[in-house]
Amino acid sequence: MGQGWDVHRIVAGRPLILGGVAIPCEFGLEGHSDADVLSHAITDALLGALALGDIGMHFPDTDPKWRGADSLQFLRHASDLATAKGFSIVNVDSTVILERPKLKDYRLAIREKLAETLSLDLDRMSVKFKTAEKLGPVGEGRSAEAHAIAALCQRP
Ligand code: C5P
Ligand code: MG
Repeated sequence: MGQGWDVHRIVAGRPLILGGVAIPCEFGLEGHSDADVLSHAITDALLGALALGDIGMHFPDTDPKWRGADSLQFLRHASDLATAKGFSIVNVDSTVILERPKLKDYRLAIREKLAETLSLDLDRMSVKFKTAEKLGPVGEGRSAEAHAIAALCQRP
C-alpha cells in the first residue's frame, strides 16, 4: 500500500489541470510543473508503496527541467519504477478537494487519462471529488488538495 497527498495554491492566469485533463476555469494552480495536484498525490502513493522516497526527490522543483512539466510523466515514471521492482498496480483510489468548479462531469476523462498513463484497467482507477464545505483554505477557494492510495502486488 502507498499513500499520497498534495496541495497547490489557486491563482489566476494558470491552467487547472487535474489528472492530465485541462478543466475550463478562470483560475488554475500555482506550481513549478503544471501543478497537477491529483497526479502528484498519485505519484507519491506509488512511490510510497515502493518505499522509493517522494516526488520531490525524483523531480526536484528547483530543477528548470521540470518547469511547466506535464505531471503525467512523473506518474508514468513511478509506474515504471513499480514494474522495474517486479510490482503491478492492483488499484488506485483518489480524492480531489476543491470548492469549485464542479468536477464530476470530468470524472470519466480524468480516470481514462490516468488509467492510460498507468496502463491500468479503467475499473481499477477511481477518482472522487469533495468540497471542503467552505472551511479552511480549500473551502475559502485558496487551494486545492488531493489524496491518493495505491495497492501494488508482486508479480509471480
Ligand atoms: O463536498 P460535497 O460532499 O458537498 O460534494 C458533493 C458531491 O459533489 C461530491 O460527491 C462530488 O460528486 C461533487 N463534487 C464535484 N466537484 C467538486 C466537489 C464536489 O463534482 N469540486
Ligand atoms: Mg504538487
